[in-house]
Amino acid sequence: MCGIVGYTGFKDCASILLKGLKCLEYRGYDSWGFSFLKDENLVTIKKAGKISEAEEIVNDFPRKSFTGIAHTRWATHGFPTDINAHPHFDCRMKIAVVHNGIIENYLELKKELQKEGHIFRSETDTEVIPHLIEKYYQEDILSAIRKAMLRLVGAFGLAIISTDEPNILYGARRGSPLIVGVGDKEMFLSSDINALVTHTRKVIYLDEDEVVKLTPTSFEISTLKEEKMQKEIHTISLDAVSLGKGGLPHFMLKEIFEQPESLHNAFRGRLDYGRAISKLGGLELTQSEMLSVRGIKLLGCGTSWHAALIGKYLFEELARIPAEVDYSSEFRYRDPILLPDTLVIAISQSGETADTLAAMKEAKRKGAKVLGICNVVGSSIARECGRGVYLHAGPEIGVASTKAFTSQLVVLTLLALLFARMKGVMARREGLIALNAIEALPCLAKRVLKKAEKVEKIADLFYRYPNFLYVGRGYQFPIALEGALKLKEISYVHAEGIPAAELKHGPIALIDENMPTVVLATESNILDKVKSNVAEIKARKGKIISIVTEASREMDDLSDFKCSVPPTPHFLAPILSVIPLQLLAYYIATCLGCDVDKPRNLAKSVTVE
Ligand code: AGP
Ligand code: GLU
Repeated sequence: MCGIVGYTGFKDCASILLKGLKCLEYRGYDSWGFSFLKDENLVTIKKAGKISEAEEIVNDFPRKSFTGIAHTRWATHGFPTDINAHPHFDCRMKIAVVHNGIIENYLELKKELQKEGHIFRSETDTEVIPHLIEKYYQEDILSAIRKAMLRLVGAFGLAIISTDEPNILYGARRGSPLIVGVGDKEMFLSSDINALVTHTRKVIYLDEDEVVKLTPTSFEISTLKEEKMQKEIHTISLDAVSLGKGGLPHFMLKEIFEQPESLHNAFRGRLDYGRAISKLGGLELTQSEMLSVRGIKLLGCGTSWHAALIGKYLFEELARIPAEVDYSSEFRYRDPILLPDTLVIAISQSGETADTLAAMKEAKRKGAKVLGICNVVGSSIARECGRGVYLHAGPEIGVASTKAFTSQLVVLTLLALLFARMKGVMARREGLIALNAIEALPCLAKRVLKKAEKVEKIADLFYRYPNFLYVGRGYQFPIALEGALKLKEISYVHAEGIPAAELKHGPIALIDENMPTVVLATESNILDKVKSNVAEIKARKGKIISIVTEASREMDDLSDFKCSVPPTPHFLAPILSVIPLQLLAYYIATCLGCDVDKPRNLAKSVTVE
């Protein structure tokens, strides 16, 4: 999620590391930090704020340090503060670590280490790592790192230095990327190729559970079992590097393609197979408070409101709790009635949307318990709620929300599952089926993304149409709304999302051969009903693009074009079926030459009402 840069060589490393971090600045991270080895000591500077603010401070640094590590943080555990900024250290301040990712079992490790006398300074999950290395450190840092890695559950890319080994830089990874840059009498480490290209084109990609020991003139890569690895040195071409977009032309496309990973991060460490339930850390609700919830009110704006709408279906079907959805902007001025024992859930990617912030304050004023579902750690909504669940989707830069939406759906499913199992309205077996299906999502999302070219071809054929309808029923109705919103906001093409059965009550008058309809027609107990609605469109010469379940022939006769998504339980189907719609909007917008990442008239965070 964040950015890591490391250096060992014969040049002054402060400016090299600063330059590296600046290449990662586009992501709008929340904190930065550096540690350098100097005269057998660690010199550190770290702060909350933008990396652009680091320039002056780092430029004033006492020069001549040849080995160092640096980090831009995108907080997952602990607010973005100076103390929580990386690097983090062992008790004696001899080992410095920067980390990219999430340590799922950090709480139990922290308790164990504190019992043994380790002193923690921050609230991050990361800090367990230097203390674990310290715990296992006898003669050799490398084996201490391996032993520490064996204790870690989760995802990490690490860069590590120690005062005991002044010219050595270590790296290690599992789940998060880490790349070695091979220079002339200098070596680099980075989470992102962009930070390396100005120094070297020669890179080595570390694989899962590999550790690298770098000196200015050598690299040694080994596994956890101490096997030495012979790795290929790749020469990267400059066109593989598009500033921060991982070689893709837009952040939106990058974020669409990141969904297998962001979905994984949304449930990482949160599936409890033993009890067939989900476990969510920040709820701050006792079991009896949870059991006393009689109603749920979901609040959000735009895409987050669409997620809220799916939340209603989830809470009602899985947990049998009556749920209502409100636009934050409507809720706040209506003097709404909140029945006792209603739990209010505010959903927001940015955590800064003014209407949602005000709506949740209003709910709090009325005495409700409010829970936040946010992506940005330490954002206003997250702080104001005091309880909630983070998405861990990583920074979302594209104005059109994509990966945050699918992560919102995962988190809402986990919440509904938690209530369902606690209340005893879902059997253990069904709980296990749900957990397995959630765990399969990243793989299934990859399968959907492999068919992007097909969606691109459809976009090529349809981008000149000035209007579109999107229809769906049940869990897929909010996806019709979301598909239409995606198209409107980035391509400026008019689109409407409609519950399929509502067509005949008015909108069907719009249908003719110039009005394409996107139909959400995945397998469910109401697919036959959807088919009848589509037949009515076909009878009026409307063109049909349908999203169907793989191997299903149900829509063959009714569709002009089909995109398929893998089978999954119906309550998870929206997470997969929205992906082709995100791609369709993206490709239509690019065919029309629109500025996809910064569509006209829109802002990523709507901090005005
Ligand atoms: C989504 O693509 C939009 N750009 C917009 O509707 C967004 O979802 C809305 O402004 C809410 O933002 P939030 O999730 O950060 O609160
Ligand atoms: N989980 C770590 C933290 O919250 C690292 C986050 C990141 O990848 O920036 O500090």
